[in-house]
Amino acid sequence: MVSDSSAACRSTRVTIIGAGNVGGTLAQRIVEHNLADVVLLDVVTGRPQGLALDLMEARGIEGHDRHIIGTNNYADTADSDIVVITAGLPRKPGMTRDDLLKMNAKIVADAAKQAAAHSPEAILIVVTNPLDVMTYLTWKVSGFPAQRVMGMAGILDSSRFQTFIAMELGVSTADVKAMVLGSHGDLMVPLPRYSTVSGIPITELMDAETIARLVDRTRNGGAEIVELMQTGGAFYAPASSTYLMVKTILLNQTRWLPIAAYLQGEYQLNDIFIGVPSRLGCGGVESVLSLDLTDEELGALHQSADAVRRNIELANSMVQLPAD
Ligand code: NAI
Ligand code: 2OP
Repeated sequence: MVSDSSAACRSTRVTIIGAGNVGGTLAQRIVEHNLADVVLLDVVTGRPQGLALDLMEARGIEGHDRHIIGTNNYADTADSDIVVITAGLPRKPGMTRDDLLKMNAKIVADAAKQAAAHSPEAILIVVTNPLDVMTYLTWKVSGFPAQRVMGMAGILDSSRFQTFIAMELGVSTADVKAMVLGSHGDLMVPLPRYSTVSGIPITELMDAETIARLVDRTRNGGAEIVELMQTGGAFYAPASSTYLMVKTILLNQTRWLPIAAYLQGEYQLNDIFIGVPSRLGCGGVESVLSLDLTDEELGALHQSADAVRRNIELANSMVQLPAD
């Protein structure tokens, strides 16, 4: 006799809203690393269903039995452990991330509302740009505790800085650690003092001019790829960065990672989501690490936060955010 063990056999489930370049690549990473089942949701009929079937048909070759569901219906996302929001429009050449605000605010607010209703215990990871504002919006609309809402950008920006440092010095990327704080935009704050090669700060390995060039390239990392590709933006490194967050949470690895997290006084900032080193674990953002910043670094972080705040106000006027 076969007993009904379906409840006991329930798999970990990650929903990805937006089956575009970032969402599709992230889905592939998650199932091919055998991390979780994936629900891919998109507004376009057929696209998530097609991607899901394509990924399913690779299972025998990739050696996993993960389920991938493609859907246009939020009911299929029910009881997800993590929901990643990538729905929206990507940047076009010449467009800033903030130009996207108007178009993406409505899309993200709707996605957050529906995702939260169907998966009330989930952790929400926001990818859609402008990142810091969309994360705030998602937190407000979902009504979730701030610990369970976060944005992905700092890992990507730090990874870009890490890559450029390794390329400049001709060393393995594995020996380089880099730290970028602040908003995901032109005002992000790469921190050379906290970026190292085998533990040695890069300020001891490169002259100020070289570091300034790498910092500048990091700040323009997304735009550089948009200019090259002309249609769409980066998605391999963004998907890898998001995958790292999903993996850290699901495997309860507890890592310090730069994440757009909610601040309540840290760095003298309040009621804002912005990139800061955070302790990420199975429950979400467990705490924020307060680094000892110079006046110049703190000033740059505050300038970055001012820009985010202006856009939160703009988003508030477009999408009626729930009051406290
Ligand atoms: P994409 O255009 O390939 O995919 C976006 C998907 O969202 C499309 O399939 C579209 O049909 C879908 N979509 C639009 N409205 C929707 C709705 N109401 N509900 C469900 N799905 C909807 O774009 P890509 O390259 O995947 O980028 C997605 C977003 O992520 C963009 O806003 C982009 O700027 C941002 N991004 C952020 C990064 C970060 O570091 N935070 C890095 C890379 C991209
Ligand atoms: C990036 O940095 C567009 O935000 C996206 O590649």
